[in-house]
Amino acid sequence: MTTGPDLVEGDRVELTVGAPAHGGHCVARLGGEHGRVVFVRHALPGERVTAEITEVHKGFLRADAVTIHEASPDRVEPPCPYARPGACGGCDLQHASGEAQRQWKKAVVEEQLRRLAGLSWDVRVEELPNEAGRTGPDSSGLLGWRSRVRYAVDAADRAGLLKHRSHEVVAIDRCRIAHPAIQALDVLKLEWPGTDAVAAVATTGGDVAVLSRPASGGGVLPPDDPADGTALGNNGQVRVSGPEEVTEVAAGRRWQLPPDGFWQVHPAAAQTLAAAVVELLQPAEGEVTWDLYGGAGLFAGAVAERTHGRTTVVESSRAGVVSARRNLADLPSAEVVEARVEAALSRRRVTGPVDLVVLDPPRAGAGAKVVRSVAEAGPRAVAYVSCDPASLARDIATFQGLGWKLTTLRAFDCFPMTQHIECVALLEPAPESAVEPTSEPAS
Ligand SMILES: C[S@@+](CC[C@H](N)C(=O)[O-])C[C@H]1O[C@@H](n2cnc3c(N)ncnc32)[C@H](O)[C@@H]1O
Repeated sequence: MTTGPDLVEGDRVELTVGAPAHGGHCVARLGGEHGRVVFVRHALPGERVTAEITEVHKGFLRADAVTIHEASPDRVEPPCPYARPGACGGCDLQHASGEAQRQWKKAVVEEQLRRLAGLSWDVRVEELPNEAGRTGPDSSGLLGWRSRVRYAVDAADRAGLLKHRSHEVVAIDRCRIAHPAIQALDVLKLEWPGTDAVAAVATTGGDVAVLSRPASGGGVLPPDDPADGTALGNNGQVRVSGPEEVTEVAAGRRWQLPPDGFWQVHPAAAQTLAAAVVELLQPAEGEVTWDLYGGAGLFAGAVAERTHGRTTVVESSRAGVVSARRNLADLPSAEVVEARVEAALSRRRVTGPVDLVVLDPPRAGAGAKVVRSVAEAGPRAVAYVSCDPASLARDIATFQGLGWKLTTLRAFDCFPMTQHIECVALLEPAPESAVEPTSEPAS
């Protein structure tokens, strides 16, 4: 066992593990309170573990807990044999009970809000219904939810999942968090010559599709992300089986999109998030809405059903724009603008006045420029849907600097067994004393 400053990959250290941090690990320190920071995976807060160093960086180390000397009462046996150090990197939290996973995510969101937005907020992480995941031998709702899975193909042409922070492909028999219809496919039994990735999609409309990406497809694949709603990251793919267009059902409507078009990954997420957006915004008849980063039009459709008013979707991907135009064709006052949000707002392709804005950016967040443009347009409320609490907190800080206030925050466990979390925040302009927080700022 080594503790000194010359640690290298593969060395083992004994540690007491501290609080969870953003990124799927807990924080520990080597050599006391002010010692070197170690981000430890496969551990839980309070545990005494032996951890193997996996990466050495200037200011911190990464490690995997390989022996647990004092286990947390929240520790459980991971249901998947590949969810362990050195194996599949798809899940971060299989060793924690469902309740402990939600407590972990609550701590991460609260920490990001405190650190990046200066907010002390009491977050509650809500479970999603998961009928698909409750019908098999497991009834926890923690498995069987992943409706988009991207497998990587190894040098022997076999599909598998990637190791954590690596391009190494781990052979698996099946992915336990995948939708049962995806687990039933023979993708993992076949050989995939000339292919670098295979994606499987199972929708709420009952469609199942398989796509592959030729090895010559160009560009490096983005990291495998259980929370990514585009199975192959919108790279040039080939349809192997299933329909050209798949159907999803949510918010009282049917949605058509290509199998690789963006859609929320958990089968209950689109419905849950659309309901949350409507509940927070309280759309009124005739109100004007922008749905920025609108995808196939989910939130625009849900809000426009209430407002019957002018609704503008801004979306940059061609596939998303085509889907949104068709999906919203029955709403005469809906318009879909094909553009990057930054450009659409700065070049005034989309202009106010506007009453309601939905912001649902990718992981990097909307950014200060977009937030400023939105605030300047003067909506009465913004619903910010986010898959990254850090970028959400940064954008909330920008809103606060412009005199806006976070008034409600709902957090949903849309990605069980993984570190990922989805939040829906309600932001409103705060003319002195007019806006009172409606829920859960910590006292
Ligand atoms: C998190 S998804 C949300 C989609 C949709 N709101 C939903 O829930 O189904 C983000 C969407 O933003 C699109 N996008 C990414 N960057 C963009 C940008 N700079 N401007 C406009 N759209 C963008 C992506 O193509 C994707 O459809």
